[in-house]
Amino acid sequence: MNGHETDAAEEAEDQEFRDLLGGLRIWNHPLPAFDPVGMPAEPVSLFRRWLREAAAAGCPEPHCMALATADTEGRPSSRMMTLADADARGWHFASLKTSRKGQELGERPDAALLAYWPVHGRQVRIRGPVTVADAAAGAADLAGRSPGARAAALVGRQSEVLAHREDLAAAFETVRSALADDPRAPVPTWRRYLLEPDEVEFFQGTADRRHIRLRYRRTSGARPQWTQELLWP
Ligand SMILES: Cc1cc2nc3c(=O)[nH]c(=O)nc-3n(C[C@H](O)[C@H](O)[C@H](O)COP(=O)(O)O)c2cc1C
Repeated sequence: MNGHETDAAEEAEDQEFRDLLGGLRIWNHPLPAFDPVGMPAEPVSLFRRWLREAAAAGCPEPHCMALATADTEGRPSSRMMTLADADARGWHFASLKTSRKGQELGERPDAALLAYWPVHGRQVRIRGPVTVADAAAGAADLAGRSPGARAAALVGRQSEVLAHREDLAAAFETVRSALADDPRAPVPTWRRYLLEPDEVEFFQGTADRRHIRLRYRRTSGARPQWTQELLWP
């Protein structure tokens, strides 16, 4: 192909991609009604209710959320995480403290979580400071994970540069024998994290785009009180 043909092929591919985007739609299916009046006084019950409803409706992996952290210069980065729990204390997740997110949380212990359940046109945004649970909680979290997840944790090099693909296979081979000897082999760098929200926003999409946004804001410290307010969509 000469230069002109390459340019034309690239343009055609760009156009095809734009056409694809332009033809895609959100919420081509009925969405549930949401009346923000009379919602629970705190946000976790409503989050649990929405997650339960997403799971019941067959939404794939409804317990996976995007986690955003930032480095010391404020540059953000996000990735998907598996929610380990959500209770009156906050939202729990786990990872290696040596990973990028682990390092960023170590330097700047604030984060945001985002859940999206397309089946119901719902998203939940959560923001707040993050603390690390004690070693026992980290160990219990790891013990509850699948053998594959435990092996990956024991390899422990998440987010380091992988120079050769074979190194990965070799590392898994090494931990496989360690786990065969001791299926509960500890991973000292595994951490269970708790995000204690100061803000949780529930978004219910509507076909007429008058989306309903209900934000909970924490107003006091030790014994949390929450205010609720609506936001313009
Ligand atoms: C659906 C899904 C769930 C995931 N759950 C976790 C998790 O619970 N813990 C974890 O450390 N990584 C999890 N990952 C991998 C992360 O997205 C990410 O690739 C990894 O943690 C490295 O992130 P970092 O370099 O920003 O630290 C998950 C990935 C996907 C796609």
